[in-house]
Amino acid sequence: MSADGIETVGVVGCGLMGGGIAQVCARAGFTTMVCDLDESALEKGMASLKGRVRGAVERDRLTELEAEALLGRLTATTSLSDLAGCDLVVEAVTETLEAKRAVFTQLDAACGRDTILTSNTSSLSITELAVSTSRPERFIGLHFFNPVPAMALVEVVHTLLSDETVVKTVAAFGERLGKSPVLVRDRTGFVVNRLLVPYLLEAIRALEEGLASAEDIDRAMQSGCGYPMGPFALLDYVGLDTTLYIAGIMYDEFRQPQYAAPPLLRRMVLAGHLGRKSGRGFYRYED
Ligand SMILES: NC(=O)c1ccc[n+]([C@@H]2O[C@H](COP(=O)([O-])OP(=O)(O)OC[C@H]3O[C@@H](n4cnc5c(N)ncnc54)[C@H](O)[C@@H]3O)[C@@H](O)[C@H]2O)c1
Repeated sequence: MSADGIETVGVVGCGLMGGGIAQVCARAGFTTMVCDLDESALEKGMASLKGRVRGAVERDRLTELEAEALLGRLTATTSLSDLAGCDLVVEAVTETLEAKRAVFTQLDAACGRDTILTSNTSSLSITELAVSTSRPERFIGLHFFNPVPAMALVEVVHTLLSDETVVKTVAAFGERLGKSPVLVRDRTGFVVNRLLVPYLLEAIRALEEGLASAEDIDRAMQSGCGYPMGPFALLDYVGLDTTLYIAGIMYDEFRQPQYAAPPLLRRMVLAGHLGRKSGRGFYRYED
């Protein structure tokens, strides 16, 4: 596998994921341009990125010189057309088909024919996004995990229309980022959510039927299976609204009961108990 030919990377969206993706690209030596339409989001995202890089220096993960070189490879812009010269673009904007289609229509028109377009979508169909461009054979899903600098996995999602060489190039690009790429066909949930979502939903069903307390179920899965977090701590971390949304999309795709959201999950989301971000989910959080 070779990622030859990729030198300049564009990242669209500088939120939670885009900021992390831009950081790992620049860290791996790619000239990286990050674009967010919203100037304040761009400033906030870049400030967090710089904070993480400073933190890495303080923890001796990066030298001062490496940090300076990393930041020197990064440019921030609010104009998508500045990404025209990129060899590969990772889209990480808000999770709606409309927002992503608008981004890809502009990128498709602005970028050279050889530019590879990728999306970090968690729930939309890669095929549907690919066919909205004039280059579906050069369109791949590139699904990173949060927090991007710390999580090793990247899912490389190919479609019926993907060019095999492009799939290999994108997987090799993932490796150059220091990640562990897994090839996966375009099916809602890819690999991780396909297995994780039914597990999380089953934990809620078990709690609902009074099998054990949330704390005990979490402890059982940590000490019995060696998982770093139990299902309820993980649900609170991911967000109950996000889990409900992804479960709904997976249920629509597969129509199988293991993806159907349990009543308790829906009620907790309606009640605003979304997990860590709202201060209360299956557990309570002080700040
Ligand atoms: N949050 C996660 O844990 C996670 C994990 C894997 C994948 N994802 C996916 O990553 C993508 C981004 O998620 P996020 O959590 O970083 O969202 P976020 O809301 O933190 O960031 C999205 C950013 O995109 C910007 N944006 C919106 N429209 C734009 C446009 N047209 N051009 C440029 N910028 C635009 C917004 O201003 C915002 O800063 C989504 O597709 C999501 O499904 C998220």
